[in-house]
Amino acid sequence: MKTLIKNVTVLTVNKDNEIISNADVVIDGQIIAYAGPKKQWQEEFSQVIEGQGNMVMPGFVNAHCHAAMTLFRSYADDLPLMEWLEKKIFPTESRLQGEDVYWGTMLAIAEMLKSGTTTFADMYFFMDDVARAVEESGIRAVLSRGLTSTGNDGGEEGLRENEEFVKNWHGKADGRITAMLGPHAPYTCSVSFLQKVLAVREKLDVPLQIHLAETHDEVEQIQAQYGVSPVKHLKNAGLLESPVLAAHCVHLSTEDMEILQEYDVRIAHNPGSNLKLGSGIAPVPELLQRGVTVGLGTDGAASNNNLDMLEEMRLAALLHKGACLDATVISAEEALAMATRESARAVFLPKTGMISPGKKADLLLIDLQKVHLTPRHNPASLLVYAAQPSDIKMVMVDGKILCRDGELLTMDEEKIIYHAEKRAKHLLAGI
Ligand code: NI
Repeated sequence: MKTLIKNVTVLTVNKDNEIISNADVVIDGQIIAYAGPKKQWQEEFSQVIEGQGNMVMPGFVNAHCHAAMTLFRSYADDLPLMEWLEKKIFPTESRLQGEDVYWGTMLAIAEMLKSGTTTFADMYFFMDDVARAVEESGIRAVLSRGLTSTGNDGGEEGLRENEEFVKNWHGKADGRITAMLGPHAPYTCSVSFLQKVLAVREKLDVPLQIHLAETHDEVEQIQAQYGVSPVKHLKNAGLLESPVLAAHCVHLSTEDMEILQEYDVRIAHNPGSNLKLGSGIAPVPELLQRGVTVGLGTDGAASNNNLDMLEEMRLAALLHKGACLDATVISAEEALAMATRESARAVFLPKTGMISPGKKADLLLIDLQKVHLTPRHNPASLLVYAAQPSDIKMVMVDGKILCRDGELLTMDEEKIIYHAEKRAKHLLAGI
């Protein structure tokens, strides 16, 4: 299957943030075969898309999410993190069944595809059901089972499940699913449990995903318990020798940032969730200055409350300007790179997140012929500061069109809303 998108503007989001006008893009199977000046093509294409007035860009990579938490959307708002987790989220999550997670994830994937996300990194439970939703929908995902040592068995069962999950699903769904191990956070995993996770990781050779330095409380708790910061604690536990995706990293000392830099820890910045839970503002401009890889995530829909990466990107660009009293920090180009290329690096999928020959065909076609996108001086600026999900004309993952003019082609939206609503009501009944 060969597709030609012709007469289009290409926002490559490559290292030079190159923009190609009057371009053609050719997709051969699952791969971008050509992205450059338009040509007179002699060969036959199975599909030709007229791109006049449109722009091709990489799909968004949501670097941190708990997809099935869509079921808790609007259930518990305006609470601090620990109270929100302990009183509202953990008790409800303990009632979850596989079918709940399946429909919650289907709802999340439908929302993500409709707003241009082509890959998401997830940490949750019943990961077989999450993987099933990913496989059916056609989206790409990096999946880990959330692990804590706080339960009766010290986390053994969860770790076994995560290990099985990696063995069964890593590289499956035509390579669209990759797996990680998901120790939840320094405050929910004992050091001895982290050692067990590391031993399993050695065998499986997959990255780790963890929440890190999310709140001031966490920093105080780890400091009181171990006498060091959460980042240094993970370093001392030997965790940073492995490839790590760390979500949040809000409260960091200069030494913490040096450690993150030294160990090439990948960070998922979640500005919406950090603001909504009153957790604080991550020092992203300084991390970027140090060359640390920072991607962008929404976190779960219970703390955001949507999974819209356009919004997250805009928030990231605006938030740090306000916090630093400096309009030059986090430019539109940087915010866009964080949501695509850098997020792809953060979730260890460097073959996505960019429009370039040889990369995976995970891309969006944006309709620029809109009043709020006129005039068109700077495409990156338009996307970050003015675009809306309804401007996304087409979403392609792995060379396959999954959403066209806002309509999902592989998913039944009405059925998903019906089941998700029903599951959420049942889950919360009597709480
Ligand atoms: Ni999270």
